[in-house]
Amino acid sequence: MCGIIGYVGSKEATPILLEGLKKLEYRGYDSSGVGVCSAKDGKIAIRKAQGKIRHLEELIKSHAIPHSTVGISHTRWATHGAPSHRNSHPHCNVKQTIAVVHNGIIENYQEIKQELQKKGIKFSSETDTEVIAHLVSQYFHGDLIKAVQKAIGRVRGAFAIGVISSATPNLLVAARVGSPLIIGIGKGENFIASDVPAILDKTKRVIYLKDGEMAALTANDVKIWKFDGKPVTPKIDTITFTVGSAQKEGYPHFMLKEIHEQPNVLAQMMKVRTKGNNVILDGIGLSDNQLKSIKNIYIVACGTAYHAGMVGKYVIEKLSGIPVTVDAASEFRYREPILQKGTLIVSVSQSGETADTLAAVRDARARGAKAITICNAVGSSLVRESDGVLYTHAGPEIGVASTKAYTAQIGMFYLFALKLGELRKKLSDAERQKILKELKHIPTLFKTILKDKDHVAQIAKKKFRFGCFLFLGRNVNYPSALEGALKLKEISYIPAEGYAAGEMKHGPIALIDEYRAVVCIAPQSDVYEKMISNIQEIRARKGKITAIATQGDTNIKKHADYVIYIPKTNPLLTPLLVALPLQLIAYYIAVNLGCDVDQPRNLAKSVTVE
Ligand code: G6P
Repeated sequence: MCGIIGYVGSKEATPILLEGLKKLEYRGYDSSGVGVCSAKDGKIAIRKAQGKIRHLEELIKSHAIPHSTVGISHTRWATHGAPSHRNSHPHCNVKQTIAVVHNGIIENYQEIKQELQKKGIKFSSETDTEVIAHLVSQYFHGDLIKAVQKAIGRVRGAFAIGVISSATPNLLVAARVGSPLIIGIGKGENFIASDVPAILDKTKRVIYLKDGEMAALTANDVKIWKFDGKPVTPKIDTITFTVGSAQKEGYPHFMLKEIHEQPNVLAQMMKVRTKGNNVILDGIGLSDNQLKSIKNIYIVACGTAYHAGMVGKYVIEKLSGIPVTVDAASEFRYREPILQKGTLIVSVSQSGETADTLAAVRDARARGAKAITICNAVGSSLVRESDGVLYTHAGPEIGVASTKAYTAQIGMFYLFALKLGELRKKLSDAERQKILKELKHIPTLFKTILKDKDHVAQIAKKKFRFGCFLFLGRNVNYPSALEGALKLKEISYIPAEGYAAGEMKHGPIALIDEYRAVVCIAPQSDVYEKMISNIQEIRARKGKITAIATQGDTNIKKHADYVIYIPKTNPLLTPLLVALPLQLIAYYIAVNLGCDVDQPRNLAKSVTVE
């Protein structure tokens, strides 16, 4: 989704803005732009370009931008109006003295646009954002803060905005509702940004602007108010992750780097979240008695996090006996789920800003349900709007296709389920301790899988020309099949379907011939024999099989063209292990096809609009 970075200080703004934009590229975008206050002609100087940020850089090289120490910039992910030069941000008022960058959607922009058009204002884009620039202009009588305050009082929807005016060239004004925005506190300089990585090499001191708050930044000062004008004393947080964690560190892509971070992420989680044989769920916001009295759970999430939630369902039901429903957040919010006393909502999200997940949680809480979130982004909207949080602390995930956040979410579900199983006495101490011990051993097994990644790369080399993939799994690895297919289509654009293997005969088998690549997830478990039957059925129809199987299973070699082995573990924990070969398959196929692995077309890392 759109990315914002703004600067006010004593240095040349444009290079800082361009650098920051590059660090937000992972969010997904189709055009970009910069606006700075120019002392020359009293106007805001604007440069915009469609496509990659390098196009904007080239434009700035050929059409130099005036010197300025205050500016705003933006990467746009089109919602209203096609990706084009005219729809790129910043957007200006008619005189080009006020400029705005915006992330989110203004729902009532049509009516405001008509009202402004009646006053003779000519619009130069199809965007919803442009109304903000004209509104601020209408209300501007020398005080930019007041003008922004009045303008945002008129708009409905979700927004994070940055505003500058050539009449007040040392001031940057920001505001947010719904969409994320942080303020970076530097020495003699201050920043606004959509996300921490954009400013991490400049400062580690940040303020997470809250919904309904606006800020005024100068080089040496930051002031915050609620929209009604009430001053707010900001809480300054210190970012603990390093610049290195937001850089590739020698890996060709963030995705590959993040795949390799999984052993550490899970090991760290086990260290922090367990003490001896006990699981520690600090931050969950619910007492043991409240956890004991849970009657049912709804897991709500989107995309990869939804698949992690599906694994969570199998695990919670098995280990605690509590019934679980998993819903895509976009479905949950528009149906009428039965919430009763004792219903718990568990949202799952890497960013903590996904619009549908946030809305699902808001709706459920408004109806009286308790809600906790399994979330990666510290201080995000979901965290603030939930009764408790289980942070996954996977560090910044830059690759658009989620990898380490996914296994961290699943890891947290095991811990949560073990705790519930313990409190509800569904599990004996011995059973619980055994599973916990095996879980703690998973990071070591992750490393074994990663050591063998060249084998997966070889298989990918043989497979990348297949036009269609089918991923099959059963039981706890049915969600793994869905996630394997999602990873592949996200980054390689090859049509891929994930299916419960038992459903194969009810449709997908019609697809099978010698041109179909099928990935069968078949680790040792109660459903292993059933998977083998499915594999034979595919084989009989000449489908090309890659099996993911347990080390030592030589039998499977008879049935599959290629086998990727994972180490032996408790069958319930295998979704963690199989995730890695599935990520690697997708990664190497996409690399062979020359795809933009970290920034796949049309996708956004953080989906902050519905
Ligand atoms: C986007 C991302 C996915 C992610 C999903 C949910 O679609 O591309 O990788 O799984 O959003 O995001 P969240 O931040 O809520 O986990």
